[in-house]
Amino acid sequence: MPKPIYVLSGPNLNLLGTREPEIYGHQTLNDVQALCAARAAAFGCEVVFRQSNHEGELVDWIQEAREKASALVLNPAAYGHTSVALLDALKMLVIPVIECHLSNPAAREEFRRQTYVSLAATGVISGFGAASYELAVEAAAGLIGAAKR
Ligand code: DQA
Repeated sequence: MPKPIYVLSGPNLNLLGTREPEIYGHQTLNDVQALCAARAAAFGCEVVFRQSNHEGELVDWIQEAREKASALVLNPAAYGHTSVALLDALKMLVIPVIECHLSNPAAREEFRRQTYVSLAATGVISGFGAASYELAVEAAAGLIGAAKR
């Protein structure tokens, strides 16, 4: 089995399901975790799934992914629009990085149109709700050469 796919989520996503459900949907982060695990398993992969409201903790986990992950799926949430620290951490990775968003930030407020994280992403998946995460895990599996079972 390859190293796990790290799936990291940023601030306020712990409240998924109750947070602005008209934008982010009714599924909880636990639901999203189950979807990611199932999609990874279909490719013979595992996920390490974590969420933090703290920028530095996300930086620590991205650094950890350098050694321990085969690919990284990251929903940076609001930090994507603000954090040079996350960008700098991502630039040290040589594994595929898939940025993902539940909503489509490009179709929302002006300040969401810029994401620093995109500068270091292999690709971006946005706008499909919880399915954005599943699609991102599938993209990650494909990029690391895992075949569908
Ligand atoms: C988000 C979009 C961001 O603009 C926002 O700050 C979030 C969630 C998304 O998944 O759609 O917290 O990353």
